[in-house]
Amino acid sequence: MVRFQVVLIFFLCYVAAPPPAATGSSTNKLVDKICNQTSNYTFCVQALYSDPRTPTADAYGLAFVSFGLAYLNATATQDHIAQLLNDTTTAANHKRRLKLCQHDYSKAVSALEEAYDDLNSETFFQLAKLAGHAAAAADDCQSAFKGTHFSPLATMNYSLKALSNICVIVSKLFTAGIL
Ligand SMILES: *[C@@H]1O[C@H](CO)[C@@H](O)[C@H](O)[C@H]1NC(C)=O
Ligand SMILES: *[C@@H]1O[C@H](CO)[C@@H](O)[C@H](O)[C@H]1NC(C)=O
Ligand SMILES: *[C@@H]1O[C@H](CO)[C@@H](O)[C@H](O)[C@H]1NC(C)=O
Ligand SMILES: *[C@@H]1O[C@H](CO)[C@@H](O)[C@H](O)[C@H]1NC(C)=O
Ligand SMILES: *[C@@H]1O[C@H](CO)[C@@H](O)[C@H](O)[C@H]1NC(C)=O
Repeated sequence: MVRFQVVLIFFLCYVAAPPPAATGSSTNKLVDKICNQTSNYTFCVQALYSDPRTPTADAYGLAFVSFGLAYLNATATQDHIAQLLNDTTTAANHKRRLKLCQHDYSKAVSALEEAYDDLNSETFFQLAKLAGHAAAAADDCQSAFKGTHFSPLATMNYSLKALSNICVIVSKLFTAGIL
């Protein structure tokens, strides 16, 4: 019986312990430095460490990680918007607002694609501006739902904005002439 309890406690501790990536005890100093400058440190650390390259990434690697995350987030939201627009139970009034968001997110996706091309060609000067465009698109979409209690994209809008802001900070590592 005692033995069973010991095993059980061991098992519970092991299972309850979050994986290192999610604890915020980061192993990459640059991640700390970047996330420290964002409005949500926890979000930033969790997002960046969701990529296996992050622990050993330099600034250039982290730029690929952060722009990649923002891009995936924006395209996933685009798909979600397309589904809502296609849903016959979505009210016409909401569809009108969703169409604005669809336009916003396509602008965000283009900006992030351009940023990705820039990164591939090691062209850094307009990265921060492009990331800013993606963040602005998230804001713009959210404002389309102002005054309604319908905000199907609120979490996604938060994600894209937060991820874009990480991109802005990473971009500034290049243009500040630190590297
Ligand atoms: C993060 O910011 C705090 C306060 O702004 C500062 O004390 C700390 O040294 C910073 N950490 C890093 C890793 O930059
Ligand atoms: C910060 O991010 C975490 C993790 O994504 C989230 O749970 C939390 O609500 C966020 N905090 C704020 C103030 O938005
Ligand atoms: C966007 O990213 C956040 C944090 O990485 C994640 O929690 C959320 O599910 C993502 N949303 C989409 C639509 O990909
Ligand atoms: C829209 O709905 C139709 C019918 O339910 C479905 O066949 C089609 O694949 C949907 N398109 C999208 C983009 O979800
Ligand atoms: C959506 O984004 C806007 C602008 O960034 C923000 O003010 C709002 O709080 C966000 N909504 C949620 C639920 O995160």
